Amino acid sequence: MTALSTKHLLGIKDLKPEDIHLILDTAQSFKEVINRPIKKVPSLRDITIANLFFENSTRTKLSFELAEKRLSADVVNFAASSSSVKKGETLIDTVNNILAMKVDMVVMRHPNPGAAVFLSKHIDAKIVNAGDGAHEHPTQALLDAFSIREKLGNIKGKKIAIIGDILHSRVALSNIFCLQKLGAEVMVCGPTTLMPKYITSLGVKVEHNLRKALEWCDVANMLRIQLERQDIKYFPSLREYTMLFGLNKEILDSLSKKIVIMHPGPINRGVEITSDVADSDQSIILEQVENGVAVRMAVLFLLAGRG
Ligand code: CP
Repeated sequence: MTALSTKHLLGIKDLKPEDIHLILDTAQSFKEVINRPIKKVPSLRDITIANLFFENSTRTKLSFELAEKRLSADVVNFAASSSSVKKGETLIDTVNNILAMKVDMVVMRHPNPGAAVFLSKHIDAKIVNAGDGAHEHPTQALLDAFSIREKLGNIKGKKIAIIGDILHSRVALSNIFCLQKLGAEVMVCGPTTLMPKYITSLGVKVEHNLRKALEWCDVANMLRIQLERQDIKYFPSLREYTMLFGLNKEILDSLSKKIVIMHPGPINRGVEITSDVADSDQSIILEQVENGVAVRMAVLFLLAGRG
C-alpha cells in the first residue's frame, strides 16, 4: 500500500489499519530526514497549506508549521483571535476567502466537535483535523502510536492505560481508535464522573483505581484535566483529584515493572503528574513532541498524493 484510503484526515475512526501502518512507516523515513544536518526536502514545493487555529495550541501548531516547512510547502497561518472572525465572519466564509488565495490543504483546530467534517463537506481542499473539541485529535494519536512503537518495538499485544479526564479528551478517543486498530489492549482510568457513558461500547477496560491501572499496563498515557471544557464540577477539588489519580515517583517506583510514561501536553505539573515523573528516564514526553513533526510530515506528504 502506497496511498491512503481517505482524501482527508478527519479522525482515526475513518482510517484502516493499513493507513495507520503506512503513515507510521512513512514517518520513520521522515524522522531520519529531520535528524540530518539539512532537514529539508522538496516534496511539497508546489503545495500551499493554511493552518487555521480557532483554539489555542503550542505543540500542534508549531509542529504542523515545521512539518510543512521541512517539506518545502508554502505556509500561511491564521489565528481566529486576531482575525475577522472577531467581527462575526463565519467558518465557511473565512475558509472560502483563504481558499480563494489558492490554498491546497487546510490544517484546522476548532473548539467544536465535527468542525473538520463540516468543512470537508463544503470545500474542495484537503482537510487535516488538528483537534476538534472533545471529538478527535488524529495526529496526536498517530504520534503517540509512533512513539510507543519506537520505544517498545511493536504495538500489537501491548497494554496501554489512558488515565485522567477521558470525558473531555479528544486525545483519549483518537488513541483508543488508533491503538485498537494496531492490536493493543486499551484501558481507561479516572473518576466515574470523567468517563463518557458510552465508554464500554468502545471495547476498552475501565478502571477507577490508579495503582491497578499502572500495575496492568506497559504504557501509561497521563491526561490533563481540561478545566476549560468543564461547565460543572466533576470532582471536589484538584487536590483530591491529585491524591487519587495523580502519578508521582513514589507510586511509579513501587510498581512491579518499569512502565513507559506519556503525556500529550500541556502538562499541569503537580496535578496529573509530578515533575520528577514527567522528567524521569521512563518518560517519553519530549520524544512524542519530536516524533510529532515526522508524523505530520508523513500525513501531509501522503494526503498530497506523494506516497
Ligand atoms: N498536544 C496538543 O495538542 O498540544 P497543543 O494544544 O499545545 O497543540
